[in-house]
Amino acid sequence: MDSGTAYGRKPGSHRSELTLVGAGTPAGELLRRYWHPVGLCADANTTPRKVQVLGEELILFRDGKGKPGLLYPRCAHRGTTLYYGKVEERGIRCCYHGWLYDTEGRCLEQPCEEGGGPRRDRVRQPWYPVEERYGLVFAYLGPPQKKPVLPRYECLEVLEDGEFIEADDSSIGSGGAQIVPCNWLQHWENVVDPFHVAVLHASFSGTQFVPQMSVMPQVEFEATPIGVKVTSIRKLEDGRTLRRVTEATAPTLRVVANPRIGRGGRVESIGWTLPIDDSHFRIYVAGRVREEGELGRFRSKMNGKPWAELTEAEHRDFPGDYEAQTGQGEITLHSEEHLATSDKGIALLRRFMEKQLAAVAEGKDPAGTAFTDGGALVRFAAGNFLE
Ligand code: FES
Ligand SMILES: [Fe+2]
Repeated sequence: MDSGTAYGRKPGSHRSELTLVGAGTPAGELLRRYWHPVGLCADANTTPRKVQVLGEELILFRDGKGKPGLLYPRCAHRGTTLYYGKVEERGIRCCYHGWLYDTEGRCLEQPCEEGGGPRRDRVRQPWYPVEERYGLVFAYLGPPQKKPVLPRYECLEVLEDGEFIEADDSSIGSGGAQIVPCNWLQHWENVVDPFHVAVLHASFSGTQFVPQMSVMPQVEFEATPIGVKVTSIRKLEDGRTLRRVTEATAPTLRVVANPRIGRGGRVESIGWTLPIDDSHFRIYVAGRVREEGELGRFRSKMNGKPWAELTEAEHRDFPGDYEAQTGQGEITLHSEEHLATSDKGIALLRRFMEKQLAAVAEGKDPAGTAFTDGGALVRFAAGNFLE
């Protein structure tokens, strides 16, 4: 008799406490305890821009004084969207009846009311705090009394000669669309999955990074106070050893040294996996570069072409991160997985998240949040070290 056939299998399910990002969900509330990038600084300008983050749709703009603002889109008057608003010196003006809001949602003018609206102080357009750093606009969507300091990262603070900081929003690791139609956790887990590099990015699809990456590494996985650290050791043909350290840290950071090895040394850039909603994410990156556009140029070419130009047959013949991660489905079915020894990083990362969920449930602050400037400097072990 045949066994193990697909007949009669149970419907799959996913671990919603780890994956869903909406307000009121466990992971959604955990993620709301941190700052997230919601755009490049250049995206905040005098044209109102729709921004989607953690399942919320918001409007990003920059007032005439240069201050960025992030507001709930439905005007507090009668609900039309501020997407059709006009940005002015003091804020954004709704198209319908001209109510004017500042970057913190205060209503400054109600032109259809006698005297400009004597009761306008009673109205507050819902808003979120934003701060700019590393070429990115960061927003905090959580409880105001729990707002941490926006972290600083040593790898972006300490520059070497000739380096400057650049931000990029173009796509995921080996190339793909800017908005990736699957759950953010599929990408974050990929960061601590070093074995896929030697398969997906090397033997399966040809060299997507550099030939050294095709060597199957020896790997050590380690839990850290802010996430998971992976050390991959590769013996190279020239007799040297490449020690590559990668980290996934709270809240959604991928701390991955250049897979092309580059100059070597400490990690040059960090990527934030921004959950747009439960089934879409995008990546913002900030890094130390020596030439403008350097971050975007690291994108892999498949069959000599950038990802956007691949035919369906080429996607099948040369799959990369985008294909593998979206191939797991909108939200992967955890009930159907068989985690193996090589998946220890994923198990550790899920355990890290479980711990943070428990901390939040107990009223504590999750790992990686600091409330004083002094406590907000983060150092990583990540990098490519040739020894
Ligand atoms: S709906 Fe915005 S001012 Fe009336
Ligand atoms: Fe990858």
